Amino acid sequence: MVRAVAAPGPTTDDRGESTTGLDTDGTVLITGGTGTLGTLVAEHLVRAWGVRHLLLVSRSGPEAAGAGELTDTLTELGAEVRIAAVDVTDPDAVAALVAGVDSAHPLTGVVHAAGVLDDGVLTTQTPERLARVWRPKATAAAHLHAATAELPLSLFVMFSSTAGTLGASGQSNYAAANAYCDALAARRRALGLPGLSVAWGLWADASGMTGHLGEADRARMTRSGIGAMSSERALGLLDAAVRHGHHHLIAIDLDVRALAGRPALTLPAPLRALAGGGTARRTAATARPHTDWAGHLAALPLEEQRRTLLNLVLSHAAAALGHSDPGRIQTERGFLELGFDSLTAIELRNRLTAVTGLRLATTLIFDHPNPAALAAHLHSELAPEDADPLAPMLGEIDRMESALLSVAQDETAHEALLERLRTTLSKLGALHGGGTEEGPAAGRIQDATADEIFQFIDEDLGRSESNGEHAHGGTR
Ligand SMILES: NC(=O)c1ccc[n+]([C@@H]2O[C@H](COP(=O)([O-])OP(=O)(O)OC[C@H]3O[C@@H](n4cnc5c(N)ncnc54)[C@H](OP(=O)(O)O)[C@@H]3O)[C@@H](O)[C@H]2O)c1
Repeated sequence: MVRAVAAPGPTTDDRGESTTGLDTDGTVLITGGTGTLGTLVAEHLVRAWGVRHLLLVSRSGPEAAGAGELTDTLTELGAEVRIAAVDVTDPDAVAALVAGVDSAHPLTGVVHAAGVLDDGVLTTQTPERLARVWRPKATAAAHLHAATAELPLSLFVMFSSTAGTLGASGQSNYAAANAYCDALAARRRALGLPGLSVAWGLWADASGMTGHLGEADRARMTRSGIGAMSSERALGLLDAAVRHGHHHLIAIDLDVRALAGRPALTLPAPLRALAGGGTARRTAATARPHTDWAGHLAALPLEEQRRTLLNLVLSHAAAALGHSDPGRIQTERGFLELGFDSLTAIELRNRLTAVTGLRLATTLIFDHPNPAALAAHLHSELAPEDADPLAPMLGEIDRMESALLSVAQDETAHEALLERLRTTLSKLGALHGGGTEEGPAAGRIQDATADEIFQFIDEDLGRSESNGEHAHGGTR
């Protein structure tokens, strides 16, 4: 079972001796030791724990940015430090690294903080992408476990992530690698060896792994109830985790109020009890959508039903994008144009799933590519008898239109597609008398440009005007 870390406390006693049980005259190995968190931890171990011998490794080793300064800082603090270039996915290199530790200061502790990311939604994951993330974290942890099996270590800490415990959009490969570390900690403890896997939330310091996160990503995380931790706070939690004694601990800054403001079904299961006020019973109750949508919609006139669902989509789309004002979302503008990416797409789908109780596909915004189309889809699911019978077909046309506009960038494809559309529209135009006041539809279509064809779809086939104009070739 996972536990939360309690408040931090001192790591040395009144006489300056370590209270962590670590022999400070031994060597502590930190993998990823020249990375952002590795560097912070190295300094912390020297300053707060009194560690005097450090072995820091990464693939770039002494060539890593800031490695020289780090050595100077640690040396000034009274520590002896060696920085080595080692790829910890290589079992022989790890064995040689461990065997090469100065016997005057034998290895007493390991902090495994090496890792890389290769994020992407599940459908884009491949065995190669899994391996890329798995090897420096999980495989390397296994190598460290094997190489130190016979040594009297008193510390074996793995830097895991909440991705493995709570889940994280787009990080299935990373979640799996972290979950391995969590399991390895349990296994080590069962074998009577030290083992601790700390599932970290986000640290505030931008690192090699988190530096790509923009303001919007960080704001989204904060809104979700899990904020970024200052390094001071996080290092305090590391101390608390080491003292706590459990093999798997989550170290995060939780904003319980923000959690409580989210639909319960969008929360990771372990957090629902916290958000719902404590008990599993209440969580189960709050996990259900509050609205009886079928009953609610049935009591409204048709136009009001449509407006209600459109507003629902707009407000959740705005929230997923971090806008406080749903008015910033145009109803017929494509979700991708509005700024949705795979992660915000999943957030919107999760929000709508939670609030409607419907099972909605992860491809929701791709299947229904603008708010109006999505609202029409919800209408057909929640009140099928009242929904526009053409809505699914019009949704299909929306989807096809987006696909056509991207494929039609290619000139040959453009001509072929136009030709094909003309044929379909001619057939359609020939039905029911086949004409309009301006002349037979078939004749109009035959000579139509792409813009005119889209105009025809809009006007004659019932699509309403979008944000002004239709164009092809990526100008939309
Ligand atoms: N930062 C956070 O908010 C956060 C949150 C949760 C968990 N974590 C975990 O904390 C650890 C440190 O992350 P960070 O944020 O400090 O990222 P970082 O700055 O990118 O550090 C990662 C380190 O791992 C090293 N590394 C990668 N592959 C390696 C390999 N095959 N062999 C040896 N070293 C390797 C990198 O150096 P080279 O490229 O030179 O090898 C780098 O020094 C990671 O395990 C991460 O999963 C971080």
